[in-house]
Amino acid sequence: MKIGIIGAGDVGQTLAKLWTQAGHSVILSSRHPETLESVIQDLGPTAQAATVVQTAIAGDILLLAVNYATIDAALAQMAPHVTNKIVIDATNPLRYTDEGNLERVIGDREIAGLVMADKLPNARIVKAFTTLWTGYLQQHAHRPYPQVAVALAGNADNKPAVATLIKDAGFDPVDLGTLTDSRPIDPPSAIWNQVLTADEMRSQLAQASQLDSV
Ligand SMILES: NC(=O)c1ccc[n+]([C@@H]2O[C@H](COP(=O)([O-])OP(=O)(O)OC[C@H]3O[C@@H](n4cnc5c(N)ncnc54)[C@H](OP(=O)(O)O)[C@@H]3O)[C@@H](O)[C@H]2O)c1
Repeated sequence: MKIGIIGAGDVGQTLAKLWTQAGHSVILSSRHPETLESVIQDLGPTAQAATVVQTAIAGDILLLAVNYATIDAALAQMAPHVTNKIVIDATNPLRYTDEGNLERVIGDREIAGLVMADKLPNARIVKAFTTLWTGYLQQHAHRPYPQVAVALAGNADNKPAVATLIKDAGFDPVDLGTLTDSRPIDPPSAIWNQVLTADEMRSQLAQASQLDSV
């Protein structure tokens, strides 16, 4: 299976490394693929660089890892080529303010996975890898039992392939349900940027939902 990674920044490169180490082929996109030469060399013979369009076409499954501020331009390029493809959406609906703080760019009641499903209606969106800083991903991949949890959410048919890629990257997948259930994957939330085992994640989610219902 060829994994097309849209956005070769921190998230894209971190997961490209973990997946090539697990034996997968990856295509990393950039608006300037020639700048990825040394990255591709480091990743080895199962990695290549390409444009966004080439990556969207060639990837059997796609990872979306672009900053929200520029995402619409990337989505416009991808959209014609993602029909029926699983797109793992690792993006967070955040932007930096002029003061250097992160702020949400979608409404408090909106759910990022549903917003993305509206933006890319032909794709099969699965939300995953949004909750952990890449430093944690690098540090904790393939940790001995109990492994670190990575939450995912989406339609049942689309999740097994993504759960396998989460395991291949060295993490324990925790299924949150459908995109409608995926609010805890978005910041701010009880599990966002927390290094947790699956049991700890489920317990945090249960506590948060009890507080919500009070
Ligand atoms: N960093 C983290 O720890 C972390 C963890 C979880 C989730 N996330 C989320 O993952 C997403 C990516 O974060 P990141 O830290 O990896 O960002 P990043 O390091 O800034 O990389 C983003 C990449 O997106 C590409 N890009 C930007 N605009 C584009 C466009 N219009 N079309 C195509 N490609 C474009 C850029 O590639 P070129 O300039 O080469 O085209 C860049 O390499 C964000 O939504 C972030 O919230 C980040």
